[in-house]
Amino acid sequence: MKQMIIEGNKTLTGEILIGGAKNSAVALIPASILADGKSILDNVPNISDRDALIDILEILNCDVTLDKDHLEIDTTNLKNTVIDEEHSRKLRASYYFMGALLGKEKYVEIYIPGGCNIGARPIDIHIEGFKALGAEVKTEGNKYILKADKLRGTDIYLRFQSVGATINLMFASVLAEGKTVIHNAAKEAEIENIADYLISMGAKIEGAGTDDITIYGVEKLHGGKITVIPDRIEAGTYIILGALVGKNLCIKNIIPKHLEALTSKLKDMASDITINKDNIVISKVDNLKPTNIKTLVYPGFPTDIGQPMAVLLTQANGTSLFEETIWENRMGHVPSLNKMGANITVKGMSSMTIGPSKLHGCEVVATDLRGGASLVLAGLTATGTTIINDVEHILRGYEDIDIKLKNVGAKIEIREI
Ligand code: EPU
Repeated sequence: MKQMIIEGNKTLTGEILIGGAKNSAVALIPASILADGKSILDNVPNISDRDALIDILEILNCDVTLDKDHLEIDTTNLKNTVIDEEHSRKLRASYYFMGALLGKEKYVEIYIPGGCNIGARPIDIHIEGFKALGAEVKTEGNKYILKADKLRGTDIYLRFQSVGATINLMFASVLAEGKTVIHNAAKEAEIENIADYLISMGAKIEGAGTDDITIYGVEKLHGGKITVIPDRIEAGTYIILGALVGKNLCIKNIIPKHLEALTSKLKDMASDITINKDNIVISKVDNLKPTNIKTLVYPGFPTDIGQPMAVLLTQANGTSLFEETIWENRMGHVPSLNKMGANITVKGMSSMTIGPSKLHGCEVVATDLRGGASLVLAGLTATGTTIINDVEHILRGYEDIDIKLKNVGAKIEIREI
């Protein structure tokens, strides 16, 4: 088990370089299965979810070479289409092998995926879509068996704009016969990055990033090439950190357009924020205004930034209301924040924060990835020492977090216990 120790209340200044987007990379890596031959990915983040997906590729007998953020995946020797329970359960994104292997090999055996415990996380929309394309889907205990003689393009309406289902159905349809239209598709920035990768392999896809994505099936795909877009959630987390303890903290290598829901909130709160072409500079202010936030699908306020944002609300002068609309169990960080001195009351998927609160360090537990990130921010803001247990959750999605924070003046260590 890993533990993080933070000596808080230090002013952070300098530059934090943002890595590739976790939620893009975790789909781009499985997407490589669809190509014949070698594909190349750059700006791949150094996170444990990446390693878990590479392990699965190796089980499938792909050849994988990783050199820093440069990843090459060769599917020439692909032979296996069965992923065991242990590897399926290591992360949520293992389910992208459903669409990718079904699309390419027309057969996959895989178990219920893992991932953060932030809600029920059903995959019924994915399954309905696979069936609409002509797949037969069987379950045996925790195992899914998906197979098809042939996949045929069709019209699929998603009852919710699910990120995962949109991506998985793109994967299953790029090699299907004829035209597929995914209606009410998710519009997250990552969807366009993934479509661009498939297009680089020779796929015919129109409308990614809009409500309707049209895919014209092709017979084969060749190796592709993509650069993973910057991680807007990692960036958002550090931007909030700048508002908490920054002095001209510069968050670099970002696409500000992807962060507009957050930056407009920070402006409403009277933060000291400057938005440049590919970076944002932010400093702490004393009279932060409270605000109300409701999470929404992209381009609304991202659910994944809700938990880091909870820390900033504890520092605002007055009462802020927060409503989560995507995941029913995304308040795991609140008991720890309250233990550190916050005044947050939770009711169902909503919370009320009365600020400002003086946070003090103590021993807390990361219950999930973004909840864990919020404890890091709280620890860096608090006086005294904060010990965060179960840091593995955080390392799933924040590359080199200790190194990046040390570089801007934080006192932070990760140790094995
Ligand atoms: N949903 C269903 N049925 C489905 C699929 C989704 O009911 O078949 C529901 C979910 O239960 C949830 C909502 O639809 O209430 C949204 O789910 P979605 O499928 O959009 O989420 P996801 O693809 O499982 C991705 C990110 C999450 C992020 C959400 C929303 C990955 C690996 N995960 O999850 O990221 O919160 O989109 O933007 O891309 C994180 O990074 O911390 C994280 C949880």
